[in-house]
Amino acid sequence: MSNTEQTLSIIKPDAVERNLSEEIKEKIIENIFKIFKEKKIKIEKQEAEKFYQVHQSKPFYNDLCSYLSSGAIVVMILERENAILENRKLMGATDPSKAEDGTIRKKYGISIDKNSVHGSDSPENAKIEIDFFFKE
Ligand code: CMP
Repeated sequence: MSNTEQTLSIIKPDAVERNLSEEIKEKIIENIFKIFKEKKIKIEKQEAEKFYQVHQSKPFYNDLCSYLSSGAIVVMILERENAILENRKLMGATDPSKAEDGTIRKKYGISIDKNSVHGSDSPENAKIEIDFFFKE
């Protein structure tokens, strides 16, 4: 049975700043995702705090929110079969030093903070995150 899904993907400031957006998008498209919508934006720290609300209690929350709001980002809705899981596979482990060969974070990530991309981790969060950036 087919399970076409949408997931939210973010190309983070470290990757946008190094002009890697096009290269990362090519890799996404190679992996048979359709980029359904995309926009390049810069967000305020307050918005980043709202976006990463689930991590509120973590020790890295403040730095994480400062970082996401520190420069331009590219937000995209990606669509394909099992998009959420497939995008997580394509991104690789959160910590680039632990990510597998061939993954985006292994190739482009600098550190656990500057790990180049974000992707939704569940259908519930995909919907929340897509609405966060794209709801009219
Ligand atoms: P992301 O997938 O965007 O979701 C939350 C982010 O927090 C994660 O990627 C990392 O960039 C960042 N982060 C920083 N420190 C940690 C940590 N110790 N564990 C998990 N995520 C972390």
